[in-house]
This record gives sequence, structure tokens and C-alpha cells, in this order.
Amino acid sequence: MTRHFLDLSDCGPEGIALIVRSATKGPGAILHGQSVAMVFEKPSVRTRNSTEMAVVHLGGYPVMITDAEVGIDTRESSEDIARTLACFHQTIAARVRDHTSFHRMVTALEGQGSATNVINLLSDYSHPCQAIADMLTLADEFGGIEGLQGKHMVYVGDANNVARSLAQASLALGCSITICSPVGFQFDDPAVDAIGSFARFGAKIYRSDDPVASAQDADALYTDVWTSMGQEQEARIRREALANYSITEELIAVASDGVIVLHCLPAHRGEEITDAALEGPHSRVWQQAKHRETAMYGIFAWLKEAI
Ligand code: CP
Ligand code: NVA
Repeated sequence: MTRHFLDLSDCGPEGIALIVRSATKGPGAILHGQSVAMVFEKPSVRTRNSTEMAVVHLGGYPVMITDAEVGIDTRESSEDIARTLACFHQTIAARVRDHTSFHRMVTALEGQGSATNVINLLSDYSHPCQAIADMLTLADEFGGIEGLQGKHMVYVGDANNVARSLAQASLALGCSITICSPVGFQFDDPAVDAIGSFARFGAKIYRSDDPVASAQDADALYTDVWTSMGQEQEARIRREALANYSITEELIAVASDGVIVLHCLPAHRGEEITDAALEGPHSRVWQQAKHRETAMYGIFAWLKEAI
């Protein structure tokens, strides 16, 4: 069966650990002679650059394709785009507005017996590549992957695509997580149950709407934008609802002494995080950004069954 990396459920909790361990070994020539179509329906700095450079360092050839060129489901259907790209490329890595585009691409590829793999570079549902980079950042901080066991991550903000993948990965490596969001912006019960099924080593998932109570004893504080790409029409209502769900110096002060501050970036300083928190001594956001490329080494190794 051809592997795809659409969500962390594709590799499961044990696969997450394998990918993180493999990523730290650095790049091998596993993409030698292969090309990767990189399709972006939405803007990107980190994902585009880290993926493109990872492909080069893994011996492959990346081809960048913008939304204007392909027009997913406007110029051409998701299915036809996938089948066309599979004529030339051994991997399709895409950032899409609607996660169901991935399922349609994979179904179309399977229908013609294609061995081309598909990677999710962010959808409205999840951001699995980001979560692997986040785990690498935590492993650096806490003395390796085993060091995550028994730790507590607190995510403050919108329960979104990044939060879902972060929670799945954290729980899989034994790090408990509290998702702290206002009512109306939280994961629902089925989502919490599904995310909770990733938990290993006694880790637990909690939901809260109280940032200060949640942050007590936190080993890591994480946030993301209040308004994700594609939600721009809700920006005003989100700014009001999420106004108290920010990482500030005051919130850092109630967490553990050695707490680290994470953000997938781009950051909206003065909204979900203050300038002082982002630039302060607890911040690890640049190490996190750098690990976006390290993460891709592990993800490609798993995808190509090289681990
Ligand atoms: N964190 C992240 O995915 O950043 P970009 O949107 O710049 O790729
Ligand atoms: N939640 C954000 C993440 C950006 C990297 C978004 O989807 O826009």
C-alpha cells in the first residue's frame, strides 16, 4: 500500500515516535531520482522553504506550483490535478483550503494504481508536518524524545488545525496537553476522544477555558493565530472572543520556571502572543522554525518506507 501523510493518524502514535527519531539522523539520499510537486493553495514561508530544501538535501527535485497555476476545483478538479501531477512526480505535497481535497486526490491516485505519495502541508483540519517539528523542539529541550513523558503542554487559543496535530503528537510521546480556548472555539467531544486515542505513557488531554489555571506548572506554552487562513471573514468576532487567550509575560510567570514558549508562526504580535513573550528568554520559536526542515527528513523517510 502506498503511504500518505495526510494526518498523524496515517502513521499513528508509534509512527510519530519513529518519524521523530528518524528525523534527528539527518538526510539520506532517499529521494534520489525522484521529484516532488509542491502545491500551495495558501501562502507559506516556513513550509515552502523547509520542504523545498529538505527535498534537495534528500537528493530529490522540488517543483513549486502556486494556486494561480493549478486552481484546485476552479480550473481543474482535485482528482484531475493529482492524476496529472502523478505522471511526473513521485510525491505530491500540498497545502489546501479544504482537507477533503486530499481524500479525493488519494482516491483518484489509488483508482489508477499510482504509487505517488501525498503529504499534507497544512489544511483546514490539521498540520502534521508542523507537529513533528514541534516534537523535535521539545526533544531538544527535555533531553530527547523520552524526556517528553510526564511533561505538560498548554495550548492557549483557537482549537484549530495546528492544535489538533500538536495534541496528537504530544500525547503520542507521553506529554499531556491542555487545550485552553473560549467556549465556541474548543474541540468538541468526538474530537477530544479521537485526539485522546493517541495518548501513550499515561498522557492525558484536558480542555479548559481558563488560561491562568491551565498554565500552572506548564512545561511548554503554545499558541497560534486566532484567525487562520480562510477564516478572514470571522476576524472581528474571533478577536473579541479570543482576546484573553494570549501568551503574555504574566502567563509565563505562572508556569514552571523552565517553561518554553512555542508558536508555529506567523505570529500576530499583540494578539495571541506579546512581543515580549515571543522575543523573551523562554521563546524557542526560531529553533521550532528550523526544525521544520529536520521534520521533513523523518516524514519522507516514513513515507518512502525507509525507516
Ligand atoms: N508554520 C507554518 O506552517 O508557516 P508557513 O505558513 O509560513 O508555512
Ligand atoms: N492555523 C494557521 C496556521 C498557519 C501556519 C492557519 O491555518 O492559517
